[in-house]
Amino acid sequence: MDLKASLQLPDGKSVDLPVLVGTENEHAVDVRTLRDQTGYITFDDGFANTGSCISDISFIDGEKGILRHRGYRIEDLAGESIFLETAYLIIYGELPTSKQLSKFRGRIASSASVHEGMRLFFQGFPHTSHPMAILSAMLNSLGCYYPEMTTHNRAKDLEHFDWGAALLISKVRTLAAMSYRAKRGLPFVYPRWDLRYAANFLHMMFSEPYHDYNPKPEVTDALDLILLLHADHEQNCSTSTVRMVASSGANLFASVSAGVSALWGPLHGGANAAVIEMLEEIAASGDDGRKAVEAAKKGERRLMGFGHRVYKNYDPRARILGEAAKRVLTSMGISDPLLGIAMHLEEVALKDEYFVSRKLYPNVDFYSGIILRAIGIPVDMFPVMFAIGRMPGWIANWREVATNPKMKIHRPRQVYNGKTERDYVAIEKRGE
Ligand code: CMC
Repeated sequence: MDLKASLQLPDGKSVDLPVLVGTENEHAVDVRTLRDQTGYITFDDGFANTGSCISDISFIDGEKGILRHRGYRIEDLAGESIFLETAYLIIYGELPTSKQLSKFRGRIASSASVHEGMRLFFQGFPHTSHPMAILSAMLNSLGCYYPEMTTHNRAKDLEHFDWGAALLISKVRTLAAMSYRAKRGLPFVYPRWDLRYAANFLHMMFSEPYHDYNPKPEVTDALDLILLLHADHEQNCSTSTVRMVASSGANLFASVSAGVSALWGPLHGGANAAVIEMLEEIAASGDDGRKAVEAAKKGERRLMGFGHRVYKNYDPRARILGEAAKRVLTSMGISDPLLGIAMHLEEVALKDEYFVSRKLYPNVDFYSGIILRAIGIPVDMFPVMFAIGRMPGWIANWREVATNPKMKIHRPRQVYNGKTERDYVAIEKRGE
């Protein structure tokens, strides 16, 4: 049955608009013909009520705290899959067979090094550079080495998509490790063929010419889990940015580079670093979390790692990471006071009327930083870790835009609230 929504407008006009229903019974009023029919547009600052696309990739029910990729529950993927397998699922829509997975892994392993010319780029950045600035610049520059994938002819760019996807997933990790080492004046470490994804990253970060870094399996597993849990998350700020850039016909490299910039902000991917800074500040002040909660209630600060535009329940990724944080620290024999403060802060906030009534729960960033810190990843690299994890989601969303024959350039409208037309006489008067 075709559903319709009727809209009564102030000038007496009324309009019937179609209603779209998603596979999870989500309903959306389709306003695509609204302006043509009535002259009106919709207004939705921050897009909280706007479906910007029809997508098959990820599903979130924020009220129930559900996240699924291509139909698979995040809890099941976290328990039974690995980052690269989930990446394949997100990009291609199905879990890979063992043959498909080994081909995908082979492509990723063989793409790990970057062109020697790119090493020189790193020399130009001052040591004060933020690694997210470097990463965004490097991902866009990377496209220069693949002219066959950056033709801006969609059909031609798509012919090389499988390689483009694999090499971006591979090289984002190499470029991230290089940005860490360049900033510290350390020599670059070449990737190794024999190491798995997370282990190879840690090798490029922490090995030295005279000493191979050999992390415990618990450490590489925890890093793999963090990457998996960040792999996609529906139409968040950075993914929407990737789709926006892709909608102009821009290539995959340019689009994901823009995604990194969008992710950088403290309200998005920068929140994991902000959480650690907040916990350190709480620890230094001797607070057990109560003062921070009170300050948040007065609007003097935000509790970083709390709240989410979509989740009005516990973010399922936060639950998994909270447990993982305890496990990893125990296995590494680390006792981090910040974990205790985080757990206490959570306990206080979840009982407080302010947080309860606003449905503010810990999000994915609340515990991820504690694990990253235990692994030895410096705080300024936290959003970079998010970017490495989110790469499959950006790639999958770019592909959805690029392969949609009905795709339109994303070009919203606005409600203009500035000066109206002024006449020439008024300008002349001012000149007197
Ligand atoms: N601490 C204290 N109060 C908060 C917080 C917070 N973290 N988040 C929201 N609120 C309050 C806010 O002040 C407002 O109160 P009131 O109704 O009295 O004005 C109410 O809750 C609604 O807030 P909002 O800003 O309208 O909500 P939003 O959906 O626009 O923002 C958010 C979502 C994630 C930006 C926000 O919750 C926030 O700033 N959180 C802290 C930053 C953070 O952890 N970001 C990571 C998000 S998860 C990773 C990702 O997907 O990027």
